[in-house]
Formats: sequence, structure tokens, C-alpha cells
Amino acid sequence: MTAAKKLFIKTYGCQMNVYDSERMAEALGGQGYVETASPDDADMILLNTCHIREKAAEKVYSELGRYRALKAANPDLKIGVAGCVAQAEGAEIMRRQPLVDLVVGPQSYHRLPEMEARTRAGEKALDTEFPDEDKFETLKNRPKAARGPTAFLTVQEGCDKFCAFCVVPYTRGAEASRPAARVLSEARDLVARGVREITLLGQNVNAYHGTGPEGGDWSLARLIWALNDIEGLERIRFTTSHPNDMSDDLIAAHGDCRKLMPYLHLPVQSGSDRILKRMNRAHTAESYLRLIERIRAARPDILISGDFITGFPEETEADFQATLDLIEAVEYGQAFSFRYSPRPGTPAAERPQVPEEVAGDRLRRLQALITGQQRRVQDAMVGREVGVLFEKPGRLAGQLSGKSDHLHAVHVAAPVALTGSLCRVRIVASGPNSLAGELIGAM
Ligand code: SAH
Ligand code: SF4
Ligand code: F3S
Repeated sequence: MTAAKKLFIKTYGCQMNVYDSERMAEALGGQGYVETASPDDADMILLNTCHIREKAAEKVYSELGRYRALKAANPDLKIGVAGCVAQAEGAEIMRRQPLVDLVVGPQSYHRLPEMEARTRAGEKALDTEFPDEDKFETLKNRPKAARGPTAFLTVQEGCDKFCAFCVVPYTRGAEASRPAARVLSEARDLVARGVREITLLGQNVNAYHGTGPEGGDWSLARLIWALNDIEGLERIRFTTSHPNDMSDDLIAAHGDCRKLMPYLHLPVQSGSDRILKRMNRAHTAESYLRLIERIRAARPDILISGDFITGFPEETEADFQATLDLIEAVEYGQAFSFRYSPRPGTPAAERPQVPEEVAGDRLRRLQALITGQQRRVQDAMVGREVGVLFEKPGRLAGQLSGKSDHLHAVHVAAPVALTGSLCRVRIVASGPNSLAGELIGAM
């Protein structure tokens, strides 16, 4: 028997890339690869890349440059680029960095084993097609290794919304949902391997409309209710949602479905109707606020999280103030905010740009406001009883740490044997980035 080949994967970008990297590692496992934690002893290096902002895309080339010496020392080393930069730039990557042997876009991962074989034969391999098949069906999870207590599961991919700033509709392609039966069987398999919490993933996960086991379309809410029946699965989350796809059954599920956690990531990007229109978001600040009201009526303690962009083309100080007003009205428990980054091929990149310093200054002001809100929401947990799924050792000896129902990090004195268990915890203190709690008992 020949020794196993070593695979080093580095993952950038969103949670979907994390999920995809796991699937690629499993697929290459069938080709005799085992994962290694360092590029130094790898036989294959795979960068799973992100194209969402300029900085993310540029990181890839600086990382590739660092592999020059490794490739000189080991001519058998193969270097691959996957993910959204691969999709957006294709063969240009090999022109700009000749060290690269393989370029594979997100919709072609099931072809990776065959592409790897071609690189071993000394060829370059490139595939950025959008084939019409469920790549995850062909990309079977081969080795059934035990897993940690939490997992991602992609149910929907791609986007048809074409926000004027965003590359995702171009890099991930048209919106498509996986059939419900496949999602459910993958979920059951994860639970059998030790998973207790599943986060359903999609670029527009609440637009999910997969074929049901008996035909007809299933909504995301219907899928969540079916997952709720899986014994051993304790928690369900989903991300990322679009305000316009928050259907009534999904809002109701937040009130009624026991395993669905009280956390919702609902990006809004801006609080100015003029800018929302220019972004092609197809909703207003007011409709977003009404939506939040309805969600909170269904689940009063739900933690709302959002995404914001500052310095979108033509954004004035008054537009930005409207964003701050919206933030004031919502009271976010979590948020991700970014300075606008012009992306090649998107409509907004062609418009009059806001100076970088102005966009940067607005970002700092927005983050200061949100940091205060986050802290208040977190502090308000003190005295409450919450569920915590213990994932790993805590900060201090004798502690375990995990995430609360509301996705706060919590440190608790608890026996190691409870790792992987969902427990009841009383929150006793709130620190800068996490909560401290006392163990009450098992759920
Ligand atoms: N599908 C998700 C997430 C898309 S990317 C959604 O619709 O919300 C994640 C976030 O990155 C976006 O919500 C947006 O806030 C930010 N983003 C996307 N393109 C950007 C750009 N060109 N410049 C700055 N931020 C951007
Ligand atoms: Fe991008 Fe908009 Fe689609 Fe989200 S909804 S992925 S921001 S185009
Ligand atoms: Fe980045 Fe692609 Fe995800 S651009 S955010 S890796 S969908």
C-alpha cells in the first residue's frame, strides 16, 4: 500500500465555503488523501476562496505567492483554487499565477476527483461550468467519521436577486434548492455521527423551495418542521435570509417550533429608501421594520442580526443617518458591517463612488452604535436560564464553552463528560465577548 497523500485546505469567506471544504475533503478522501494542518507537508493545497470584497479576492494571490518555495522543493505538489474567485476569474488565475494546477468553481466540485487525476498526469485542470445536477449527490460523504456537535448543511445555493453591489449571483449562479429527502437523509446521517445542532445554509436560505418526498414544493418552514421530528437533533438554525422571502409559515415556526433557535440573521444593508432602491433590494426601511415587528410578535426574545454596507455609491450623510435611525429602531444583538467595495461586473461599480475616508468614517460610527446595542442585548441575558450546547473546553480549567440558544458564547464550570450535550444554564455575568453561566443540569 502506498502512503496516504496529504491535503491542505484553506477556507475563506462564508459558511457555505466551510461546508464545501468538508465535502471536497471527503471527495478527495476517496482518492487516498488525508487532511493535514500545514501546507508544508502537503501533496495538494486547495484554497477555497471568496470574491465578495476586493480584500478577500486579493488575499488569494498573496497566499499563492507564498507557496512558490514549497512547489520548488516538491515538484509533485499540486495547487488548486476553488470557490468564488475561481468562478469569477477562471483561467485568469493560472495566467496570473502559473503555480496553479487546478481551478474549480463551486458548481463543479463533484468533478474534483477526476480533475485531481488529470493534474497527476501533468495536465492543468479548469472547470467553471454550471452543470445541471445536484453536485452534493455525486459528492457523497465517503468516510463516516465522528463529528463535533454542530454542523452546516447546504440546502439552497445561488441567488437571483442581483443586488447592485454583489458578486454572488455571478459566482454561485442561479438560485437552486436541494430536494427535501436528500437534506433529511444527510441530516439523519449527521445526527448518527454525533451532531446535535444543524445550521441550514443558503445564500437566500428562506427562498428554499425543494421538491418534497411526495412531489410538490417544500418551503423552508416545512423542511424545518420535518427536521424537528429527527430524534437526537436538538437545535436548528438557518442563514442567510432575505427580508422579501420571510414567509408567514417561517415567521410562525419561530414561535411554534421547539428546536428552531431564537436567532435570525436578516441583512438590510441600508436604512435609506433611496439607497435601498439603488441597491435593487426591493424592500423599504419601513417594510423591514414592520417585518421585524411581526417576527418579534411570534418570538418576543428572538435575537436579530444584520449586515450593513457604508459608502454605497451616491450615499449622502442624510442617507447614512437613515441607516443609523433604522439601527436605533431595531436594537440588534449582532451585526456584520462593511465598507462598500466595488466589484468588477456589478452595476454599482460603474457609479460615482463615495470617497474611501467618508465610507470608513461612517463604518466606524455605525459600528460604535451597534457595539453598544450588542452589549446591551448580551447584558440583558444575565439572570436568565438558557440552553447551552457544550462544544469545547472553556477559558479556565474545569470549564466548558458553547453557544447559547441566542448564539452567545458562554463559559460554564462543567464536567468534560458534558462536551457535546445540551444543558440548562443560568447566566450570571456578561463580559466583553462572552457570558458566564452556572450549570443547572441536562435538558
Ligand atoms: N446572501 C446573503 C449574504 C451575501 S454576502 C445576503 O443576501 O444577505 C454577505 C454580506 O456582504 C452582504 O450582506 C453585504 O452586507 C456584504 N457585501 C456584499 N457585497 C459587498 C460589497 N461589494 N462591498 C461591501 N460589502 C458587501
Ligand atoms: Fe448578494 Fe443580494 Fe443575493 Fe444576498 S440577496 S447574495 S446580497 S445579490
Ligand atoms: Fe464569498 Fe462566495 Fe461566500 S463570494 S461570501 S465565498 S458565496
